[in-house]
Amino acid sequence: MGDLLTSELARIAQEIDSRFDVLLTPPDDSRRTLYEAMRHAAIGGGKRLRPLLVCAAARLFAVDPECALRTALAVEAIHVYSLVHDDLPAMDDDDMRRGRPTVHKAFDEATAILVGDAFQAMAFEILAAPATHSDPFVRAELVTALAVASGPAGMVGGQAMDMAAAAVMHDLGTVSRLQQLKTGALIAFSIEAGAILGRNPPEGRTRLRAFAHDLGLAFQIADDLLDAEGDPAAMGKAAGKDDAAGKATFVSLLGIDRARAQAQSLSRQAIEHLGNFGREADLLREIADYAVDRDR
Ligand code: IPE
Ligand code: IPE
Ligand code: MG
Ligand code: MG
Ligand code: MG
Repeated sequence: MGDLLTSELARIAQEIDSRFDVLLTPPDDSRRTLYEAMRHAAIGGGKRLRPLLVCAAARLFAVDPECALRTALAVEAIHVYSLVHDDLPAMDDDDMRRGRPTVHKAFDEATAILVGDAFQAMAFEILAAPATHSDPFVRAELVTALAVASGPAGMVGGQAMDMAAAAVMHDLGTVSRLQQLKTGALIAFSIEAGAILGRNPPEGRTRLRAFAHDLGLAFQIADDLLDAEGDPAAMGKAAGKDDAAGKATFVSLLGIDRARAQAQSLSRQAIEHLGNFGREADLLREIADYAVDRDR
């Protein structure tokens, strides 16, 4: 991992932790367990890659770092909600996440469902607040784009296809579509958010969108490769789950070697889309390298 990426990942992790710490101060009533469970899910874990993508893309458009960080926190809130629900017995039924017991294991299922619900609402509350951007049109665009990326036309739709992937045999085109929705949509939002905050018009976002598309796919293939051959201790979550559940993934369809080659080629292709940007895009380039060359 490059020096720039190492220091930026540490910085964003600290920012996200301290902001969740403030937002999630447990109240002195019977909601305390809910807040403790939200802290368990959101503080002190995860790579914080989506928040870093927001900040890295915002850098291209000279966005106020405070606006970028608030948007980054909103994306991470959606991501944490998706992980807590993804781990539930009704979905992937996982016991470990980010090196600790999943929320329904450490607390209970009802609490895990509510933790997800609460983070989803919190994400939109953060985006809609004036501190996120002075221009209400920019805030409305952020809210709409995150709703689309995380709803049935985005992450939740991809999760539905993923659940069906255990029962139905999928071809490569369908699995690409599944991954694009399940993982790609939120990654694409993270990058697009930088352009929205910078008031970069949609016509100017073509290359950035192409970067996001290839990065999202590469990132999920790397997740599937980790599931197939990663070290659970390093990942902080179980391995071998996709195969056990009979999920159609790039690895099940292509095999390990071709899936790895595909991920690397997508990462290179993503970086090529940034060709017209200068040094200000170096962090995005390093993220694209890291997305396919990681052990967690
Ligand atoms: C895991 O995401 C779930 C997927 C969408 C592939 P990450 O690999 O970003 O998980 P954390 O945030 O680092 O825990
Ligand atoms: C989860 O995908 C994607 C979302 C939560 C949207 P996976 O089920 O592959 O993620 P892991 O492997 O449990 O982290
Ligand atoms: Mg899953
Ligand atoms: Mg899972
Ligand atoms: Mg996985």
